[in-house]
Amino acid sequence: MENINWSDLSFGYMKTDYNVRCYYRDGKWGELEVSSSEIINIHMAATCLHYGQESFEGLKAFRGKDGKIRVFRMDENAKRMQSSSHGIKMAELPVEKFEEAVRKVVKLNERFVPPYESGAALYIRPLMIGMGAQVGVRPASEYMFMVFVTPVGPYFKGGFKPSKVCIMRSYDRAAPQGTGTIKVGGNYAASLVAGEKAHELGYAAVLYLDPKEKKYVDECGPANFFGIRGNSYITPQSHSILPSITNKSLQQLATDMGLTVERRAVPVEEIATFDEAAECGTAAVIAPISQIDDLDANKSYVIAKDGKPGPVCEKLYNKLRAIQYGDEPDVYNWVTVIE
Ligand SMILES: Cc1ncc(COP(=O)(O)O)c(C=O)c1O
Repeated sequence: MENINWSDLSFGYMKTDYNVRCYYRDGKWGELEVSSSEIINIHMAATCLHYGQESFEGLKAFRGKDGKIRVFRMDENAKRMQSSSHGIKMAELPVEKFEEAVRKVVKLNERFVPPYESGAALYIRPLMIGMGAQVGVRPASEYMFMVFVTPVGPYFKGGFKPSKVCIMRSYDRAAPQGTGTIKVGGNYAASLVAGEKAHELGYAAVLYLDPKEKKYVDECGPANFFGIRGNSYITPQSHSILPSITNKSLQQLATDMGLTVERRAVPVEEIATFDEAAECGTAAVIAPISQIDDLDANKSYVIAKDGKPGPVCEKLYNKLRAIQYGDEPDVYNWVTVIE
């Protein structure tokens, strides 16, 4: 693309050429349709507008040194969207249909996949909404699945740098037995007030504690949390966090680097013992954490005293990025080359 300054892009929306849509009617999914419109025409009584029947996903396509376009672990996003559908009573989309839609929308918008050197990527946003008129609180009988794409810049513009996060004990993003494990819009609406407050106070994100007891670390805004202590990769197991595909991938890489992976409840005080801590997710892969302020408890955990990312985070980050961009062989079969 001629006029895009790839390395200056932020994580924002830019119009691309096409999106792909698919409708569920009369108990079955139809064929994929290609659209060049950014607009969705829906009934005012659609369940997505009233009762939050909406789920979404986020994944990326990367252009390699060889010019090839690679999509990372889209089968995992497809399965997570199925789990979101189960959780809020929407129609389940077959994994193959999800993958076909992703391949199609990336291919159609190929000119928006940033060049290798830029460190940017094409963000892919699948979403599903309940359509059709319904006034009572019931699931819709019709659904729309769609996928659009938009190029996004490198997450770390000034280099791979740690940031501060905060714990705010008077906010939760999800209920103990609620929808925290699925990717539905309501969880994100519930996180906006605390998120804005954290940003105003100069923090990169809110680190949520478990909503039942406020004893354990849950996750970090729109990312999972992990800590490194000695030879261990420690990450929370909880009923209120989203199973991150990045975290799952990092656990595999950590295991294969000889680290011990511990997935368990992580008491908040344990943070004091970590050599490194980080957020992980599709947006940044790894965003190291320098300090965690537990605002209501008036307590601070300083992790990166020198303000630099730790060696394990850096190694994991470089390894995963290398697989995504095709710099290293895809030994885990995580990547789909878009032909
Ligand atoms: C709440 C939440 N946790 C974690 C993640 C990270 O998940 P992934 O690695 O699949 O992007 C995301 C982003 O999708 C998220 O929204």
